Amino acid sequence: MTEQGFKDRVALVTGGTRGIGAAIAEMLALAGVKVAAGYSKGTESAAKFKEKLEKEGATVSVHQGRVDSPGDCERVVHEVLEEFGRVDYLVNNAGITLDKTVRRMSYEDWQAVVNVNLSGAFNMTKAVLEHMIERGSGRIVNISSVIGETGNVGQANYAASKAGLFGLTKSLALEMAQRGITVNCVAPGFIATEMVQAVPKEALDKVIARIPQRRLGQPEEVARVVKFLLDDDSSYITGAVYDINGGLDM
Ligand code: CAA
Repeated sequence: MTEQGFKDRVALVTGGTRGIGAAIAEMLALAGVKVAAGYSKGTESAAKFKEKLEKEGATVSVHQGRVDSPGDCERVVHEVLEEFGRVDYLVNNAGITLDKTVRRMSYEDWQAVVNVNLSGAFNMTKAVLEHMIERGSGRIVNISSVIGETGNVGQANYAASKAGLFGLTKSLALEMAQRGITVNCVAPGFIATEMVQAVPKEALDKVIARIPQRRLGQPEEVARVVKFLLDDDSSYITGAVYDINGGLDM
């Protein structure tokens, strides 16, 4: 699709002011999409993000809310509809880690990660789905992880939540297949964001040594694939998982 095709479309990107989400929000905004970026904390940095993109000519709004709260999700979607009148694209990107081995992981650690990463995508999807069905069109992209495919020491909660997104994606893709709505998943590997930089250096060096391309990915390398999946031209792609991991899992 030409950039013209993205013009005046509306995207809601959760966790859209930092990391991979910010790269997606920025790439879409610069293609002419009106972008609503969700965030849970960091009001000041969210405002700065909006300001930076607006200086580049983009149309951006930022919305505080927790994706693990169904009420917050409904409110955020309501705000976006008030602001822009429609939602064409939903990118469920918000995610957290609380890395510990299962022996050391508390029930709260488990629930917190599953509630944000997996239930958060469900909650936001529920909040926007009827609107997309009414319009007979929509694109949903869930941001999973290579860890959902391989598992990882210290990440049982995260791996389970990210694996769960594959099931959510495929089930919803089936349910929406005749309603003009595609639902896909991307599974990034280790991408150079704050989340990955927080991994202890020794552990991260070991990961990089196992990546065939021997480097971390860049957030833009994920954003480009998400943009491709949102494109009108990607109309026959649904229920798919795109790996973006430098060959880490194949
Ligand atoms: N294999 C098996 N067990 C291991 C292990 C390994 N390679 N490394 C550590 N352990 C176990 C120890 O045996 C010990 O086990 P018990 O709980 O049974 O006693 C436990 O881990 C704790 O060991 P330590 O005290 O040495 O380590 P720690 O508690 O400080 O940290 C860890 C352990 C949480 C696994 C830590 O090494 C870590 O954070 N690793 C990195 C995890 C990671 O890769 N996270 C990716 C984040 S980025 C991301 O998630 C984005 C994405 O999508 C890719």
